[in-house]
Amino acid sequence: MVEHRHVKLDPETRHIETRRLVLRPWRLDDDAAACAIYGAPEVARWLCPALPAIVDRAEMRGMLGVWIAESDAAELPMGRWAITEKRSGQVIGGVALLPLPPERSDLEIGWQLAPAMWGHGYGAEAGHAVAHQAFENAGLSEVFAVIRPGNHRAVATARRVGMEWVGETDKYYGLTLQVYRLWKADLDLPEPACADAPEA
Ligand SMILES: CC(C)(COP(=O)(O)OP(=O)(O)OC[C@H]1O[C@@H](n2cnc3c(N)ncnc32)[C@H](O)[C@@H]1OP(=O)(O)O)[C@@H](O)C(=O)NCCC(=O)NCCS
Repeated sequence: MVEHRHVKLDPETRHIETRRLVLRPWRLDDDAAACAIYGAPEVARWLCPALPAIVDRAEMRGMLGVWIAESDAAELPMGRWAITEKRSGQVIGGVALLPLPPERSDLEIGWQLAPAMWGHGYGAEAGHAVAHQAFENAGLSEVFAVIRPGNHRAVATARRVGMEWVGETDKYYGLTLQVYRLWKADLDLPEPACADAPEA
């Protein structure tokens, strides 16, 4: 099932529109919505220690300020976006395309949704849109996701977008992580052409 091929990018505003979502740059007044995402234990457990849970709105505003500056400084296709649901206008998640440390030569998609919004395909739709604008408008041929072992939902989303298993590494963030890659040619296949994920 691929229901999310429609992707429109406005390079001026950096808005990316899909069938059900608008990805837009973060704003400082997204603090409450961002706390509902990044303060949720179900989300934070997979981002920690790279990003500890943030439940305090003032602390969240500080982090949003850092993300906004980082995204402004990065040229498209890179950036950080708030995921908003078109129907409600609410911020329901975040997605980013940024260089993987330490070498910063590969680009990583990272995505997070408020737990109440899991199970609708919004993560896959947002990931697909960010990869799409990278492939179509910036000439990239591959993007990656790095996922903690046991994070089955994230693996399923990566596979839904068309990513394939590459291997396990400890070279990023000082953690053991599973690496998935999306080739441009695999983005819009009717079904993800991926190898099975390894047993956790
Ligand atoms: C990773 C994460 C974003 C995935 O969210 P998700 O909603 O589980 O995943 P998807 O967006 O791929 O949606 C798939 C689910 O929506 C369902 N769905 C409903 N409508 C759908 C549609 N139109 N298209 C696709 N899937 C749809 C699927 O059946 C599936 O349901 P299931 O989980 O019950 O099998 C979320 O689990 C999360 O925020 N995790 C914590 C942070 C994290 O680990 N991020 C990854 C590392 S950065």
